[in-house]
Amino acid sequence: MNYDLYHELNKNISFARATSEYIMHPNQLNPQGSIHGGELIKIMDMVAGIVARKHSRGMVLSKRLDDIVFHKPVYLGDLVTVIGQLIYVGRSSMEIMVQIYRTKVSDSLDPELVVSGFVTMVHLVDDTPSQVPGLVVNSKEERILYELGKKRHQEIREKLMNSK
Ligand SMILES: CC(C)(COP(=O)(O)OP(=O)(O)OC[C@H]1O[C@@H](n2cnc3c(N)ncnc32)[C@H](O)[C@@H]1OP(=O)(O)O)[C@@H](O)C(=O)NCCC(=O)NCCS
Repeated sequence: MNYDLYHELNKNISFARATSEYIMHPNQLNPQGSIHGGELIKIMDMVAGIVARKHSRGMVLSKRLDDIVFHKPVYLGDLVTVIGQLIYVGRSSMEIMVQIYRTKVSDSLDPELVVSGFVTMVHLVDDTPSQVPGLVVNSKEERILYELGKKRHQEIREKLMNSK
């Protein structure tokens, strides 16, 4: 789905969210001179973890990183903005949409989407997957995200069932 978190997030969305900004450093480069994909995945995972902790108010672990697409390279010195948005919850699992935007600090261009993906986090109490609070959908914007998350959750469940 084509969803632009940076430009479309607004006050009508109350589901948990986290944003974080980083400047890319030389130790994050790959041999081609752009930022290593694993570095970007790591910050996606961290921001998704913050979202899940905010919603569950407790311990969480990453269960699945999915549909990660590197749209454009990121370079040394770029400012990256990572946005994590909770879009759906199951019983113990939370589906989080994560997008990374790049801004070249040397110019005033609008931030551009460089990476997108989804993270499934599981809430644990005493090492056991445990119930998280449900989501209450109050706005059109929340409905769009919730339906997307629900569809993903169902597709993942079907995949898991079929692989048994
Ligand atoms: C997280 C962990 C405790 C979950 O254990 P589990 O045996 O899969 O637990 P369950 O089968 O009860 O499933 C828990 C939830 O995860 C979901 N889930 C299970 N397998 C999944 C998969 N492959 N993809 C996405 N979601 C999955 C289930 O649907 C369930 O969601 P629900 O409660 O909302 O219905 C366990 O897999 C684990 O410890 N994994 C390692 C986590 C880790 O080290 N992460 C990296 C560092 S943070």
